[in-house]
Amino acid sequence: MAPAQLRLVFLTIFLRFIAAQQNDGSVSVGASLTATSDVKPWLSSSGEFAFGFKQVQGNDNFLLSIWYEKIPDKTIVWYPEEGRMVPTGSKVELLRESGLVLTDPQGTQVWRSGSISAVASGFMNDTGNFVVFGSNSRKLWGSFDFPANTLLPTQVMERGGGMKSTTSATNFSGGRFQLRFQEDGNLVLNTRDILSGNAYDAYYTSDTDDATNSTNSGEQVIFDATGYMYILRRNGQRFDLTPRGSLPSGDYYHRATLDSDGVFRQYYFPKNPTSNTTWKVIWFVPRDICNIGGNLDSGACGYNNVCSLKDNRPNCECPQGFSLLDPNNPNGDCKPDFTPTCDEVDSIDFIELDNIDWPNSDYVHMKPSDNDTCKSSCLEDCFCAVAIYRDNECWKKRLPLSNGRERDNVKAFVKYRVGDRPLPNTPLQIPPPQYPPRLPGEKKDGTSLIVVGSVLLGTSVFVIFVLIGVICVGFFVIYKKKPRNTYSIIKDVETNLPRFTYQELVEATDGFKDELGKGAFGTVYKGVIGKRIVAVKKLNTVVQDGEKEFKTEVDVIARTHQKNLVQLLGYCDDGEQRVLVYEFMSNGTLAEYLFGDTKPTWRQRSFIAVGIAKGLAYLHEECSTQIIHCDIKPKNILLDDYFNAKISDFGLAKLLMMNQSHTNTGIRGTKGYVAPEWFRNMPVTVKVDVYSFGVLLLEIISCRKSLVYESGEKGVAVLTDLAWDCYQEGRLDTFVENDLEAFDDYKKLATFVMVGLWCVQENSFLRPTMRKVIQMLEGGIEVAEPPCPCSVSSY
Ligand SMILES: *[C@@H]1O[C@H](CO)[C@@H](O)[C@H](O)[C@H]1NC(C)=O
Ligand SMILES: *[C@@H]1O[C@H](CO)[C@@H](O)[C@H](O)[C@H]1NC(C)=O
Ligand SMILES: *[C@@H]1O[C@H](CO)[C@@H](O)[C@H](O)[C@H]1NC(C)=O
Ligand SMILES: *[C@@H]1O[C@H](CO)[C@@H](O)[C@H](O)[C@H]1NC(C)=O
Ligand SMILES: *[C@@H]1O[C@H](CO)[C@@H](O)[C@H](O)[C@H]1NC(C)=O
Repeated sequence: MAPAQLRLVFLTIFLRFIAAQQNDGSVSVGASLTATSDVKPWLSSSGEFAFGFKQVQGNDNFLLSIWYEKIPDKTIVWYPEEGRMVPTGSKVELLRESGLVLTDPQGTQVWRSGSISAVASGFMNDTGNFVVFGSNSRKLWGSFDFPANTLLPTQVMERGGGMKSTTSATNFSGGRFQLRFQEDGNLVLNTRDILSGNAYDAYYTSDTDDATNSTNSGEQVIFDATGYMYILRRNGQRFDLTPRGSLPSGDYYHRATLDSDGVFRQYYFPKNPTSNTTWKVIWFVPRDICNIGGNLDSGACGYNNVCSLKDNRPNCECPQGFSLLDPNNPNGDCKPDFTPTCDEVDSIDFIELDNIDWPNSDYVHMKPSDNDTCKSSCLEDCFCAVAIYRDNECWKKRLPLSNGRERDNVKAFVKYRVGDRPLPNTPLQIPPPQYPPRLPGEKKDGTSLIVVGSVLLGTSVFVIFVLIGVICVGFFVIYKKKPRNTYSIIKDVETNLPRFTYQELVEATDGFKDELGKGAFGTVYKGVIGKRIVAVKKLNTVVQDGEKEFKTEVDVIARTHQKNLVQLLGYCDDGEQRVLVYEFMSNGTLAEYLFGDTKPTWRQRSFIAVGIAKGLAYLHEECSTQIIHCDIKPKNILLDDYFNAKISDFGLAKLLMMNQSHTNTGIRGTKGYVAPEWFRNMPVTVKVDVYSFGVLLLEIISCRKSLVYESGEKGVAVLTDLAWDCYQEGRLDTFVENDLEAFDDYKKLATFVMVGLWCVQENSFLRPTMRKVIQMLEGGIEVAEPPCPCSVSSY
């Protein structure tokens, strides 16, 4: 050996001796770390994962943990069971006789890596797994085998495995939620009693247990290296947890964490982040954490607390008359600010709360009842602490109340002793109903005001996009039935949607009796599920064979959440029967509204037009899978209680086996709204929807139908011609048939007509995108003079 090489070997040995860890991720026996604020962790070879002491909750609290070293907030992915915090001076050592040992400054052992011996080395793997090896590289212990609250790619959970949520973001001791891969092959989430560790009812199950399918139950939970999570069944089939095709392409970190709010989420984070990047959610269960109510626990928030979903996170707020037991834990219990009372009737009064329900802990149920009877019955009943009134039913309850959540049309009467009147604390904010906003352009106080208006609108367009973005992430409440109801809802993990049996829907619709309407894809019936009125759409022409494709499409539809889209609530896929369950829209279709006896006001109409544009822009540009609607027309626009426009039937064109992105032969859509490219063997793009929207917009402006039928003839589309003629000749008053309200709002009227004309251009490249349409409609950008939409008005 040459002297230089010899020196190198010595140097290497020397360096190993002082540093105890090489940048190849290995850790030698005898190495240790002491908890101080500047202690260097043991890094994996890529430097992506670190094992060591992390300061949490102030200076003197260290958590032995593994974290992402290259992510700014150094997200923790593992810590020893129970997440005990240790003070400065605590030490972790890798010992030959006992593996990893954590001791406090007094030398008392706090934790160790199981009963192992004959340790040869440790290794911080680039996967995030810290492994302790014995001789012959035999694995003695690995952090992946003892997950804390997070699973990482390449990690596998065997039957019997599990993990707990943390108490909060900074307290790593076991919280109220746990995930278990049970011995029977079922993956479940359940609440637990922190003191005893008892598990309560599951609020999510994968139904991959032996009892459900003895030959094909779940064997392992696998998080593969590419970022997909699934349950591997005994016969090798997969039960997908991460929806297929949902992962972003590119270089990302992935993790799945049971968060302290009880939601199990899969996150990703770019390996080359731009500034202010945060973890983003790919997938999560349960859909509605506010709705997990078992009978023995408090729910997602504490006792007496009320849960509402905000960005798919539970937002807990004590109702009026209650305040937090522990002010530092907003998700904890609320205590009454008054003395619950059993006094004589004349010293009792009630706090009345709107839209709050505590579905459990009742002891009397009266049906039918009315609100006054409900209240007085509680007044006279010594045991009654709270009465809940809803839909002619009354429930009397005792304290503490559990599983509180926001729910429409519920009245809660909370009893207290007069003289004990609780201080009015901030009542729960229930958003007021949304009415069409007054747009600045609507005031006609001269041009200067309109200029100011456009500037303001320019700003609000931005705000709206931010809001759309937020809404896109999802604000989603599915009505889930209480366990005591008779429906057996199977939540499908692939779609995260309740899945109904056909029989359940037959019952819900009373045998498909009350028909609401017929469309290209099927017939819609009114139904009731639980207490919620729903629209049940029986698909009649699904030609697709694969159950898989159906689910994929349903999943795509289910993942669209926008105010101007009708929300899918569930589905049925029972043999031949394919049924979709949607929210029910009380105000019918836009067709009825627009062409009915009384003409809606210009203000309402323009509000609706902008709403539809927003819904379409979302489908085209903001959801994860682009959706071309292909059949935009007034019959497919529904109106909710507040006349918000909601687009229905989106995503169904795809379901009917149409090859959307390519040239195709089977024309989809409705005469009068169909873009010319359908007839020209040209590629069909989102611009076909823009065309249909243009026709629809002209209809909304003028309250005229796009097709005019002349004495038994086939319809002739003349509206675009009429619009063009009126526009060119400056006779918009004729176009709106002397609608004074619209005419008084001339600038907006002209803008709308011009946008409509741009949208129905024959050349699809001339048509604006829906995003641009919104900006133009809202006055954010000037609209240029449109060219003639000639020769496209009839076919
Ligand atoms: C690190 O993890 C990967 C993936 O599980 C594995 O293939 C590799 O052998 C591990 N390295 C060591 C030294 O254990
Ligand atoms: C962490 O939460 C547990 C209950 O889950 C509590 O007993 C403990 O005191 C908390 N620790 C700190 C440091 O707040
Ligand atoms: C169990 O799984 C097998 C294989 O996928 C399937 O053929 C069988 O129908 C399933 N049984 C039940 C009861 O679901
Ligand atoms: C990033 O976030 C910080 C703190 O939240 C903020 O001060 C800063 O302006 C943000 N930077 C960008 C580019 O958004
Ligand atoms: C019951 O409802 C009626 C009609 O909505 C209302 O006038 C009355 O004030 C309500 N009573 C109580 C106790 O809320």
